[in-house]
Amino acid sequence: MLLKLIKSFKEWIMEICIDSGNVLFQEEKYKIMTMIDYGSFGDVYKVQSQSDRKSYAMKRIVFRVHEKDDPYLMSEIWCLTHLRHKNIIQLKDIILWDKRVDIIMEYAELQNLEKLCREVGPLSLTYILDIYSQIIDGMAYCHLRGVAHQDLTPGNILMTGANVVEIADFELAFRCCSEDGSEEIPCTDFLGNTSYLAPELLSQIPFLARSADIWSLGILLCFIVCQDIPYKGQEP
Ligand SMILES: Nc1ncnc2c1ncn2[C@@H]1O[C@H](COP(=O)(O)OP(=O)(O)OP(=O)(O)O)[C@@H](O)[C@H]1O
Ligand SMILES: [Mg+2]
Repeated sequence: MLLKLIKSFKEWIMEICIDSGNVLFQEEKYKIMTMIDYGSFGDVYKVQSQSDRKSYAMKRIVFRVHEKDDPYLMSEIWCLTHLRHKNIIQLKDIILWDKRVDIIMEYAELQNLEKLCREVGPLSLTYILDIYSQIIDGMAYCHLRGVAHQDLTPGNILMTGANVVEIADFELAFRCCSEDGSEEIPCTDFLGNTSYLAPELLSQIPFLARSADIWSLGILLCFIVCQDIPYKGQEP
């Protein structure tokens, strides 16, 4: 989990959004066009901005517990406001409501890598190298910033263009370094998609989250190349 809980949720969001994204309060700035997906964490919609008429994606998260006690919601917001990279999905606005938060981000027209592989079938080697190196660039940036993603699956790699992939879904992300970056903090959150989990997570002992990400990146490569994964399991 990423954060020490500070002040109220609203104040916390206002503070972290000073340089990135806008915080809006109960503003009907976006019109829902279609539903994209029912996520396990929140539903995702395609929306249109009332001001510039552009399309965006909106992840609507209804508060399940007191909002500032939801570490996954806070992880997602912290990462989207702090990680800025061409291969990481970009935040536009955060809209706070009484019982939910709407996260507005850039819209991935071609959705995700899992869908692409399902629909297009085997990908050419050149294409694989292109998209995989983008994923590695995005993840190298996260790891340098001390953030492990912890849920690297094809469904969480979004396609914002035919040749552009961006990493999304930071709910399980873990800040794995001390403030000064000198010390690695072991992770004890044994969550994620079992088929992509490193063996050390399955044994339920504290593990190094960035190393576990590297395992998941290997499974991801296997999926992109073979359209299949080596180990199939159920959610833990
Ligand atoms: N910015 C976006 N543009 C287009 N589609 C998106 C966007 N963000 C998410 N989606 C779609 O919605 C799906 C679910 O989003 P996300 O993974 O963030 O939610 P989740 O609640 O964590 O769901 P899950 O448990 O299925 O991972 C993605 O796999 C993708 O297909
Ligand atoms: Mg997801």
